[in-house]
Amino acid sequence: MRALGIESSCDETAAAVVELPGRILSNVVHGQVEVHARYGGVVPELASRAHARHIQPVIEAALAQAGMTPRDLDCVAVTIGPGLIGGLLTGLAAAKGFALGAGLPLVGVHHMEGHLMSPFLDSGQPAFDFPFVALLVSGGHTLLLHARAFGEYLCLGQTRDDAVGEAFDKGARLLGLGYPGGPAIARLAEGGDPQAVHFPRALPEKKDLDFSFSGLKTALRTFLARNPEGAIPRRDVAASYQEAIVDVLTIKSLAACRAIGQRRLVVAGGVGANRRLREVLRERAAAAGIEVCFPAVALCTDNGAMIALAGLRRWRAGERDGAQRNAMARWPVERLLGETQRNA
Ligand code: KG4
Ligand code: ZN
Repeated sequence: MRALGIESSCDETAAAVVELPGRILSNVVHGQVEVHARYGGVVPELASRAHARHIQPVIEAALAQAGMTPRDLDCVAVTIGPGLIGGLLTGLAAAKGFALGAGLPLVGVHHMEGHLMSPFLDSGQPAFDFPFVALLVSGGHTLLLHARAFGEYLCLGQTRDDAVGEAFDKGARLLGLGYPGGPAIARLAEGGDPQAVHFPRALPEKKDLDFSFSGLKTALRTFLARNPEGAIPRRDVAASYQEAIVDVLTIKSLAACRAIGQRRLVVAGGVGANRRLREVLRERAAAAGIEVCFPAVALCTDNGAMIALAGLRRWRAGERDGAQRNAMARWPVERLLGETQRNA
């Protein structure tokens, strides 16, 4: 069973062909870094235009690289939310056209469920499956979920203000680094001293599992204003800022596992590519007897393969969407629970 997966919810135009249980036959990602770099963040209208320009060539490249024609596919999976509405509509229109032309069923996918599937792609960890705790960390989300089964996600905690990817992106801007900020801060932090500056860790001692990152960003701004270039090496500042984020993500993830008695943790989303997070979380989880599963680094950020796999699993469960399916800029992941049960 094979799907074409299409993703265009933010600033990556992506398409992939994936076969169950999770083999990637092709995975084409066209990024837009050069479109947004000078603005220091994603500009929705520019993103929509870039998606409109690249969606067809990206889909064609994904099919060509997989050596497939539409006849070799069983369904078309597409991200229908949450995300930037212009990008979502572009991907959905392309997917509907393709599905209609090829006589294939369409399956709309929740972007975060797509991220959740990324550890299972070309996975060296076939034994790892539901239930688990999921830490979903991206440019738009910071979520701790109890993933009880495919489609059954309960929110344990979320950010009260900025998403963690935003904390990286805004921090990078304050440090005069490029966009996207996560990889830029991680690069500068290499070889820096993570203990050089003590940045605040918001809410770590509280019982609830929510996050807050806006205070951290303000602390960095204040610190930089008081310590001009040269006072403390910028690599130490970057390493300390990154450490504060990693520390909070680790404390809350392990607390979530403890709170619901779960010994498995899946990390997904763009920030999951962060080397320091992978290192610290692995170490502290092992000490706590918790198994952590990360996707391959290249599959942490947005891609069509994760959407294809989520779509395939929904298709296998009998889900089909028609031409009336619309995109949703906002779509809480918990609402999937109702939809999954309705479709069961
Ligand atoms: O999942 P993703 O590709 O797109 C969204 O759905 O938002 O995540 C993008 C986010 C950006 O904020 C980017 O700065 C961050 O992931 N990111 C990283 C790293 N690579 C990407 N953050 C920290 N360290 C990284 N290595
Ligand atoms: Zn994403």
